[in-house]
Amino acid sequence: MNIKEEMDRLTEELKVYQDKYYKEGISLVSDNEYDRLTDRLIALEQEHPEFQHPDSPTKRVGSDLTNDFPEVRHTIPVLSLDKAYSDEAVLDFFSRSIQKEGGSLSFAAEEKIDGISMVLYYENGILTRAVTRGNGEVGNDVTANIMTIGAVPLSLPENLDIAVRGEVYLNKADFERLNEAEPDEAKKAANPRNLAAGTVRRQKSSEAGRVPLTIFCYEGFWSNKEETPSDHLHILSRLKRLGFRINPHLAFFDSDKEKAERKIAAAGLDGEAYAFSEIDEFIKKKTAERKGLPYEIDGLVFKINELDVRERFGYTEHHPRWAIAYKFEAPQAEAKLKGITVQVGRTGRITPVAEISPTKLGGSTIRRATLHNQEYIEELELAIGDTVSISKRGDVIPAVENVIEKNNEGNTTYHLPPDCPCCHTPIVQIGGLQYCPNYDCPDQVKGRIAYFASTDQMDIETLGPKTVELLYNAGILRSIEDIYNADYTRASDLPGIGEKSIKLLLKGIKESLERPFVTVLSSLGVADIGKKSAEILVKNGFDSMAKILNAVDRNDKEAFASIPGFGELTAERIISSFSSQSLRKTIEELEKAGIHMDVAKDAKEESKEQIFSGEVWCITGSFKNFNPRTKALKEIEKRGGRTVSSVTSKTTHLLAGEGGGSKRAEAERLGVKIVTEDEFMKAIGTEEAKEEGEDGQLFLF
Ligand code: IVH
Repeated sequence: MNIKEEMDRLTEELKVYQDKYYKEGISLVSDNEYDRLTDRLIALEQEHPEFQHPDSPTKRVGSDLTNDFPEVRHTIPVLSLDKAYSDEAVLDFFSRSIQKEGGSLSFAAEEKIDGISMVLYYENGILTRAVTRGNGEVGNDVTANIMTIGAVPLSLPENLDIAVRGEVYLNKADFERLNEAEPDEAKKAANPRNLAAGTVRRQKSSEAGRVPLTIFCYEGFWSNKEETPSDHLHILSRLKRLGFRINPHLAFFDSDKEKAERKIAAAGLDGEAYAFSEIDEFIKKKTAERKGLPYEIDGLVFKINELDVRERFGYTEHHPRWAIAYKFEAPQAEAKLKGITVQVGRTGRITPVAEISPTKLGGSTIRRATLHNQEYIEELELAIGDTVSISKRGDVIPAVENVIEKNNEGNTTYHLPPDCPCCHTPIVQIGGLQYCPNYDCPDQVKGRIAYFASTDQMDIETLGPKTVELLYNAGILRSIEDIYNADYTRASDLPGIGEKSIKLLLKGIKESLERPFVTVLSSLGVADIGKKSAEILVKNGFDSMAKILNAVDRNDKEAFASIPGFGELTAERIISSFSSQSLRKTIEELEKAGIHMDVAKDAKEESKEQIFSGEVWCITGSFKNFNPRTKALKEIEKRGGRTVSSVTSKTTHLLAGEGGGSKRAEAERLGVKIVTEDEFMKAIGTEEAKEEGEDGQLFLF
């Protein structure tokens, strides 16, 4: 047997095994034997690509070559569906259609699968292309990835030229399992559709092949019109016989139930028969079933059965006039995508942001929504001018969820510009995300300073993003270390910054010198070192900057990698970040300014300050210097005091601000010491108290 013969034999044999497995769930050989035969065929195909069959079973395994998803033009109209949100609207669609036709009609009803729209093109019975919907005219060629889906026939039992539309999706259980196994929080998908969309666009088809995607096919377009069946039911049964996976949950509507039953049976299909009048029952039943289905559906699709009528009704720019989608839920909010702006974060991460028409959502008006990254835009095939649905994820950040209607301006999928919009350095790709690699990029620098000063970090109250922007532009603040070295007198001329705010700023800066080392560590904005990992580092012996830098300078990857939850990659990133000359200079300067670079220093200061030890404090009223007033509680706790929410006989002090009624009265009744804000300020020894209100009355605790 020569090579070609062996390859032909292996191809045939593996095809039989795959067919049996994917269509009937039956394994004719052991996994080992199957793998051995597959590996042999892969090896032979690599050596002799000229003998590889276009529908080779090895395509199911995928390859490690990089996919680039070229844009290709559709040869059929790939449109979306008109929408209805009530059973009346569906019934109205039925009656309008019947009236327009002036004769009897029947309708197929299918589940609207919440997945990725796909068109499979077959030439001479061989799958030649699988193309995403795109803008309806031009989509992306994702064939290599789609070929890994067992339910997609690589070849047909007849030499047909046909285009088949279907929905690629992932079962809920598979989604849960895969998402749980994903270690990287940022890579977790929001829902099965997102994960399926990401998989369809994986660069390596071998990786796509590891995700158990599947497909339901629901429309067929024969290039030879004579072969086209006369109605939808026969399209479905024909597709089924050709080996396509058809959703078994089919329903069919006619003027009476028996007629509907007869038509389903005539096409050799299984399905539920309904009379038009039963539409509300049907929708109720499906709504109830929805949760129990193994896959996500977001509605029901009603389609005119008769193909000649479909042809007469035709299409609008957006949708066929012969079908309607009933949606279970109206989108939270719909908006038009007016444009996309590009933000540069403190780490250089480039984030595209959707500029949308003002839209009310959850009590506020939204004008912008996150688009995460380029990959997300591609998954949605999002273009300027599209109508999109917006939601608030976790009730905070508005995000673009899906495309509801494609634009009719011919815009295709948006692409990020090649250069950083701030400093014009070419953007680089790291793990599917886009970054500006320029450490001195003004947006990054401003972001780093604002992050360092933010409430959760060094908590320099008056140094918010707006002030940072002003001071940066004036050339006063150009790095984190500048915060402690800058000449702020120059800032008094700036709009919106006066003597008073400079004074407050200086006070905030001085106070920030007391932050513990662990906070300093997470405030530097080093990749992979957030609050949690800074704590872990400190707990694992890296309790001073000197120790960290020492390990970095020894290039001691293991020292970091061996910390639970860190690993090789994090270790590498820590070493690379702390090797940067700019960061080293920042650290040096901060240390000179008196910032804690050692937990030993934290401890020294703590012990100096335990002036409220053994005392029990309650708080009432509002304060000039503590807003929110929980800040005052923190000051008490830092100095060893205990805080309580009501005045009792155990309470030793009541810190009383403006206002405050019943607690003050109770304190007076119980003889609890009442402390004013000024007195408190003096006791904790802040600048302002020393400068002001020197009335000679020193408060003693
Ligand atoms: S029929 C011209 N049937 O829903 C025919 N679409 O919002 C139009 N979809 O782009 C499509 N399940 O991706 C049809 N049973 C079904 C469907 C279905 C899901 C998707 C499809 C379409 C989108 C429209």
